[in-house]
Amino acid sequence: MERRTVVSVVGARPNFVKMAPVIAELGRRPGEFRSVVVHTGQHYDAEMSQIFFEELGVPEPDHLLDVGSGTHAVQTARVMERIEPILSEERPDVVLVPGDVNSTLGASVVAAKLQIPLGHVEAGLRSFDRSMPEEINRIVADSIADLLFIHSPEAREHLLREGHGEEDIHFVGNTMIDTLVRMRPRAESLEVARRLGVEPGTFLLVTLHRPALVDGELLEPAMRALEEVARELRVLFPCHPRTAHRLRALGIGGSESLRLLEPLGYLEFLSLLLGAGSVLTDSGGIQEETTYLGIPCFTLRDNTERPLTCSVGTNTLLGLDPRRIVEIPQLVASAGGEHAVPERWDGASAQRLVDVLARLA
Ligand code: UD1
Repeated sequence: MERRTVVSVVGARPNFVKMAPVIAELGRRPGEFRSVVVHTGQHYDAEMSQIFFEELGVPEPDHLLDVGSGTHAVQTARVMERIEPILSEERPDVVLVPGDVNSTLGASVVAAKLQIPLGHVEAGLRSFDRSMPEEINRIVADSIADLLFIHSPEAREHLLREGHGEEDIHFVGNTMIDTLVRMRPRAESLEVARRLGVEPGTFLLVTLHRPALVDGELLEPAMRALEEVARELRVLFPCHPRTAHRLRALGIGGSESLRLLEPLGYLEFLSLLLGAGSVLTDSGGIQEETTYLGIPCFTLRDNTERPLTCSVGTNTLLGLDPRRIVEIPQLVASAGGEHAVPERWDGASAQRLVDVLARLA
């Protein structure tokens, strides 16, 4: 059999976590695949990017596009402009794009126009909220992808409804959970909470970074609500650069009981997650990781593209309403209903995905 060239395109923090196990699996099968990694550089700070490559053992990217920050159009356009010559040159058998970030959008459009088969990892998720840039990115990527790798049954329903054929949909499971399964033993030995002087199992871990929350009027009341919660529960809040910029502009700092931290690497963050009593987030990936770990998660959004984390897992949608944050201690105390780990969130998803690629004609 001829070796197939697979280009994996990553750009932002959650992409690295989703693609690390896929890139590793491709690397384990050198007789079947030549694996090429393109990093768009959408995330570029060491703690948003480099540390993930190091910790997750992703090889140095073969191509770095250095697109950096910018408006959505600028960021997407730079990805398109800079990836086109690479894909033309590499002429891969398939391009893999994960998730829903601007890098995903830019790379998808270019691959499709070069008529290179496109695989979307984490296809079919829908928030049905088109004010979210991620929703637009997902819809476009799915609409032009040839291979739709899904991790939940509702993704299949969405894709079928949008006119995709059953034969293009591959239920491989959740590659982000592959990474969690693999890294868990190392994260467990770190004990980051203890090192911060916080008792494991007791604290609220917070991540908030979405423009809808952070860029408008809601961040201030959210921080006031967190201060109130911090009278009952210790709060640890590693801040995304977007959030950190805004907090600085608003002159808001932390305190002993509401600790603001720098963005953390994968292992340190997972260590905190493993020790968290509960989590408040607006991230997509963290809703899934807490479901896998059985930790109560409160999502400060009006909707989620990951409803399985609510129906099967441990996630509760609070709505995009900072006032509800103060209910968290009460909600945690009464949490503990039935929950389960969704099917095929088991650490073997990347292998299933690469098996699909191996079977391609
Ligand atoms: C992006 C994704 C979002 C994902 C998030 C994870 C899109 C549309 N959004 O949002 O879906 O949940 O990544 O982190 O792609 N910045 C730095 N250093 C960095 C990267 C960013 O300081 O390494 C700052 C810049 O000021 C930048 C801002 O953060 O303008 C936002 O970064 P950007 O990649 O545009 O979007 P995110 O908010 O990270």
